[in-house]
Amino acid sequence: MADLRGRPVLILLASHWVSMLGAGIATLAGFTWLFVLPSSIHGHVDNPYVGILIFLIIPAVFFLGLILIPIGIALAKRRLKDDLGALPNRPHAWRRVGIFFGVMTMVNLLIGAQVSYRALDHMDTPQFCGQTCHVMKPEFTGHLSAPHRTVACAHCHVAPGAQGWVAAKMAGTRQLFEVLLNNYPRPIESAMESNRLVNSEDTCEGCHDRNQFMGPVIRIITKYNPDEANTKTSTVLTMHVGGGRFGGIHGAHMGPGVRIRYAVSDKKRQTIPWIEYRKGTGEIETFIADGSQPGVEKNLPTYEMQCVDCHNRASHPFRTPDQALDRKIMAGDIPGDLPFVKKTAIDLIKANYQNDQEA
Ligand code: HEC
Ligand code: HEC
Ligand code: HEC
Repeated sequence: MADLRGRPVLILLASHWVSMLGAGIATLAGFTWLFVLPSSIHGHVDNPYVGILIFLIIPAVFFLGLILIPIGIALAKRRLKDDLGALPNRPHAWRRVGIFFGVMTMVNLLIGAQVSYRALDHMDTPQFCGQTCHVMKPEFTGHLSAPHRTVACAHCHVAPGAQGWVAAKMAGTRQLFEVLLNNYPRPIESAMESNRLVNSEDTCEGCHDRNQFMGPVIRIITKYNPDEANTKTSTVLTMHVGGGRFGGIHGAHMGPGVRIRYAVSDKKRQTIPWIEYRKGTGEIETFIADGSQPGVEKNLPTYEMQCVDCHNRASHPFRTPDQALDRKIMAGDIPGDLPFVKKTAIDLIKANYQNDQEA
């Protein structure tokens, strides 16, 4: 034992395999992380699994190692006590242990803070939401073509502040278990249906002012028939969107002081027996559907109308094959002068396929 006397830290650290393993794992993870990090510093990582590795798995391994070290040392200490009684020169040994851990902890905290900050940050990117989790693939794909493709999923799905963040991560963890146990709902419930959508005041209205005047909006809906010439028809609509004091659909539903509440009798919010309309003047008008009695709202969930009650596909729109093809032909991505191109394409899209590759 004599040659081990001056080195209590090493004795402690090295005399139990658990702490050795811990130190080894932590160092390894730390270095691995430093090596893979450069790939993610500039721009983003395209492969979501690299992201998971860098931001979640390596840090997790790292912290596992850190936890093992004190456990191993505690075990070693107990064994030393049993075997040897007191170690010689104890105060000196403890000071060294203290310094060793002080320095280790500082370094680790530094790395750890950096790692976890990045892990948290990564969990809010569309890449994490949409590509890591296969269940979200339809939403991710839809998002790529939406006017909101540059808006992060979290911007619409996570309320601002720590509370919203925690709520989102808890829901995410529950969903992760649903995916692992393969018992998530198919199709995934819409966010309105599961009542998990953050109110538009905290999301949409951070970018769009509910009183902004938009005037009349012209919509041109172009369709191609599934015939030989892919015959084109256009429907032109002028919509009185208005806004603010200027009426229109926005002014009427979201104008200054206007608040609308409604009661629903089904989860999908399709049957609405009761509506309360508070005008800008403060006057309240109530509407009851045919066949419903006054007071019907008392036993039903009620909601306040928000942007998403009308714009429920603001991001990740799911188009029917028909609509999707019309858009592609209109944009010139599919040549509209190719005979029967619309009909052939619809048949191809609607056919049954074993998997994505085959399709
Ligand atoms: C501009 C705001 C916005 C952005 C950005 C956004 N969403 Fe949504 N999302 C919504 C709204 C609104 C709904 C509710 C749709 C409904 O109730 O019909 C929704 C619903 C969902 C649902 C429930 C199922 C469904 O399709 O209705 C999932 C899952 C989802 N979003 C995932 C994502 C993912 C993943 C991303 C990023 C790739 C994302 N969302 C980005 C607004 C957004
Ligand atoms: C981070 C800012 C941001 C958030 C959050 C946001 N939007 Fe937008 N939205 C935009 C921008 C920018 C555009 C214009 C995009 C363009 O024209 O290419 C836009 C466009 C739109 C359009 C017009 C789309 C079209 O087809 O031309 C609608 C409708 C809309 N947003 C509704 C919503 C709703 C509803 C929400 C909340 C669920 C929301 N937005 C959240 C920034 C945002
Ligand atoms: C009562 C239904 C309703 C509500 C509530 C509503 N909108 Fe609209 N909004 C419409 C209709 C209808 C249009 C015109 C159709 C279109 O452009 O797709 C429109 C158009 C728009 C446009 C596009 C204007 C353009 O130039 O294309 C934006 C952006 C928009 N709304 C944002 C919002 C936001 C943000 C909210 C919430 C503060 C909101 N809307 C609430 C019905 C509504």
